[in-house]
Amino acid sequence: MRVLVACEYSATVRDAFRTKGHDAWSCDLLPTEGDPRWHIEGDAIEVACGSAWDLMIAHPPCTYLTVSGNKWFKPEFADRYPTRVQDREDAAAFFMALYNAPVPRIAVENPVGVMSSRFRKPDQVIQPWQFGHGETKATCLWLRNLRRLTPTHLRDDMFAPAEPEEREQRLHKLTPGPDRWKERSRTFAGIAAAMADQWGDQAIRGAT
Ligand SMILES: C[S@@+](CC[C@H](N)C(=O)[O-])C[C@H]1O[C@@H](n2cnc3c(N)ncnc32)[C@H](O)[C@@H]1O
Repeated sequence: MRVLVACEYSATVRDAFRTKGHDAWSCDLLPTEGDPRWHIEGDAIEVACGSAWDLMIAHPPCTYLTVSGNKWFKPEFADRYPTRVQDREDAAAFFMALYNAPVPRIAVENPVGVMSSRFRKPDQVIQPWQFGHGETKATCLWLRNLRRLTPTHLRDDMFAPAEPEEREQRLHKLTPGPDRWKERSRTFAGIAAAMADQWGDQAIRGAT
């Protein structure tokens, strides 16, 4: 199966699919941290539209789409930061272009943000701790012709006693630095493995 992982520099999801035997490629404006043989450095929309893919998983930038950035879009900031309004429009248009790309099965991933109201509610909100990690980070998935991911771990697998406040919130504590955004946006390996296991299998069997 030909799989495109759009907006991925880390190769995490791509390599999870490759491990399962798929012809998976990552695409990003940035170089990849993984093996460059299966990475396309370029615009994800062009790549998604320019060749035949069976499945695409897209991780578009969320900088201008998160709810935490909402204050910048209030009317009192519009004069001071006019480009931010346009930035949000561009980010939303990019998100929608990925979702509407001519690929039979698509998942678009993003944190909780404005696309839930501008577009529609996500089909699923997952947490890293449902897939074997300690972190808490709500991650939304908008799905086209894909089933919701089934969590691979129960809360009790990871934490005993399983109190939410005991979950490590490592992502919020990362020290500032030029690569902080990369650490915060890198897909969790357990989620990538679940995507490859469950969506790879679904797409191969042609199941709905
Ligand atoms: C939120 S990060 C996703 C990172 C991803 N989860 C990973 O593990 O690599 C968004 C990524 O989108 C990339 N990006 C932004 N605009 C793009 C475009 N037009 N085409 C391809 N990639 C793009 C950025 O360079 C950035 O790496």
